[in-house]
Amino acid sequence: MVTLLIPRFMSILLVCLSSLSAIQGSYDQAYAKEILGSANRDRDWLVSIRRKIHENPELRFEEHNTSALIRSELDKLGISYTYPLAKTGLVAQIGSGSPPVVALRADMDALPLQELVEWEHKSKNRGKMHGCGHDAHTTMLLGAAKLLNQRKDNLKGTVRLIFQPAEEGGAGASHMIKEGALGDSEAIFGMHVSYTAATGSIETLPGPVLAAVSFFEAKIVGKGGHAAEPHTSVDPVLAASFTMLALQQLISREVDPLESQVLSVTYVRGGTASNIIPSYVEIGGTLRSLTTEGLHQLQHRVKEVIEGQAAVHRCKAYIDMREEDMPPYPACVNDETLHRHVDRVGRILLGPENVKVANKVMAGEDFAFYQELIPGVMLSIGIRNETVGSIHSPHSPHFFLDEDVLPVGAALHTALAEIYLNDHQHAIGL
Ligand SMILES: *[C@@H]1O[C@H](CO)[C@@H](O)[C@H](O)[C@H]1NC(C)=O
Ligand SMILES: *[C@@H]1O[C@H](CO)[C@@H](O)[C@H](O)[C@H]1NC(C)=O
Repeated sequence: MVTLLIPRFMSILLVCLSSLSAIQGSYDQAYAKEILGSANRDRDWLVSIRRKIHENPELRFEEHNTSALIRSELDKLGISYTYPLAKTGLVAQIGSGSPPVVALRADMDALPLQELVEWEHKSKNRGKMHGCGHDAHTTMLLGAAKLLNQRKDNLKGTVRLIFQPAEEGGAGASHMIKEGALGDSEAIFGMHVSYTAATGSIETLPGPVLAAVSFFEAKIVGKGGHAAEPHTSVDPVLAASFTMLALQQLISREVDPLESQVLSVTYVRGGTASNIIPSYVEIGGTLRSLTTEGLHQLQHRVKEVIEGQAAVHRCKAYIDMREEDMPPYPACVNDETLHRHVDRVGRILLGPENVKVANKVMAGEDFAFYQELIPGVMLSIGIRNETVGSIHSPHSPHFFLDEDVLPVGAALHTALAEIYLNDHQHAIGL
């Protein structure tokens, strides 16, 4: 409303001044207003893209239509990209083509989950759902592509926009890296929607923020027989029971109490009848640690304990760390300097009251693979809004997104990249 009262020449003057301030590297409220204003003008487009992706969720490494949609929008915008990487992934590039190079990343895959939210744009693919906000992540990065492209003459370097497949368990990031997604990038930013932070706010933290994660499965093999004659069989049920109890002592007795690790046995399968001792029992679960080394140590001990406990009970254990179908993820560790950059840009764009400290979580995120190679920050972007029902945790079939996050995320990606390049002119001429 206020802008309507400002005479036209004043608005023009404001735009000129804000562009000037951007060039000079002083970023202020006028800059924030300019970027958020552009992003908000794209709101309807962003919402329509996000809804298309939401209605047509695709699982890891099958994101063909999602990828095609992104490419067709980039084509319309006249933005060039490399495709395919890691089957369905792509990398768009905007800017001078010279260093410094900064990367922004979004993930495209959905979850094997049946959506239980009844609304006009409910998932059309049975048993598949964007229940982790990747539809929003992808849309926000596409929004940033549009904004950065509009502002490309001011970009003092190059932005690589990475649209990757298979964040959910497929380690899509590691495949993207092998196929050259990072190029000469020297820093990377990614964001994940958070249902505990209000829309319009972000949360960030330096150091470890998300866990290194792996999975395991063990088959404990004994000798089946009649339950009335236990001495003629070798009971894998008992062996599995001792094994699970012994596993629980790894965290409580062997890990520094000030370090964070998780070991959860999440299933036991074995036996068919009350009077038969089965020949084998299968158990499986997940291991997590806030350090990658901690995870390796835990994996090593889990193997030893399962084999040892099986042997004590005259059984044999076959252990599978499931590295083929569920590759281990390293810990997600945010770079201290880049964290300060996120904090600063967040304050400029959203106001100091909307930049908070993130909580560490023992969930995994394959963004960690990029951070093993170059400094990066994974930040949380708020979507909590009780009015629209955006109050459910990711991976819930009731998960529902406050679409007001879309322009905020597009603007934030844009400002993170643009200001980063402005601050890192050292790379030029090297
Ligand atoms: C992908 O698009 C094609 C063509 O529009 C459609 O037939 C197919 O069902 C879509 N697949 C998914 C998984 O959405
Ligand atoms: C929640 O969404 C409603 C409807 O879009 C909006 O009016 C309200 O300002 C939002 N609240 C927050 C906290 O973002």
